[in-house]
Amino acid sequence: MAEQKATNVTWHDHAVSKAERWALSGHKGAILWFTGLSASGKSTVANVVDHKLHSLGKRTYVLDGDNIRMGLNKNLGFSAEDRAENIRRIGEVGKLFAGAGVLAITAFISPYRRDRDAVRALLEPGEFIEVFMNTPLEVCEARDPKGLYKKARAGQIKGFTGIDDPYEAPEKPELVLDGTKPIDELADEVIAYLKAKGLV
Ligand code: ADX
Repeated sequence: MAEQKATNVTWHDHAVSKAERWALSGHKGAILWFTGLSASGKSTVANVVDHKLHSLGKRTYVLDGDNIRMGLNKNLGFSAEDRAENIRRIGEVGKLFAGAGVLAITAFISPYRRDRDAVRALLEPGEFIEVFMNTPLEVCEARDPKGLYKKARAGQIKGFTGIDDPYEAPEKPELVLDGTKPIDELADEVIAYLKAKGLV
């Protein structure tokens, strides 16, 4: 967990409440947290969900690993410590989005259970929806869209998740998606869940 280094800082209560922001959006804010192996389909499903909800008039925003690691988190690598910091920052950013009345959709491998649970603990109950992209390693490796599994197998990338670095599947995710099903079907499962919970 990151240590509090800033001293002499005071929390300002915002004049506009979360409830008021949510009312303006017409729905609650939350984080829809996709976790799973590289090439499991997290970003693809996240973006289809984003498009579908956007066209329904919902406020959404996708934060995904490859993009965030080129900006906000460009100073982080793939050690357990850097992955923890990657996830911690995304959790905090996602919380700001949720507070603003946006459904933040995140797509990070987030291989460590304790890092994901720490994000869950930042949010109110029901505001963190963990979605496990359950795609077998063999399927992800056969897809290998960026050729990274091949490189990891050849020893050209060290510490690649699923090859020589761990992935801890969630124990009690809100949703488990079978990553071998068609993307559109998976996106509809997610939206059906959000509707059932009154989130959209
Ligand atoms: S996380 O583990 O910290 O959550 P994140 O989702 O941000 O990872 O980034 C994963 C992406 O980085 C992968 O989809 C892949 O494109 C790339 N990548 C590069 N090196 C690694 C590695 N050692 N392990 C996993 N992904 C890697």
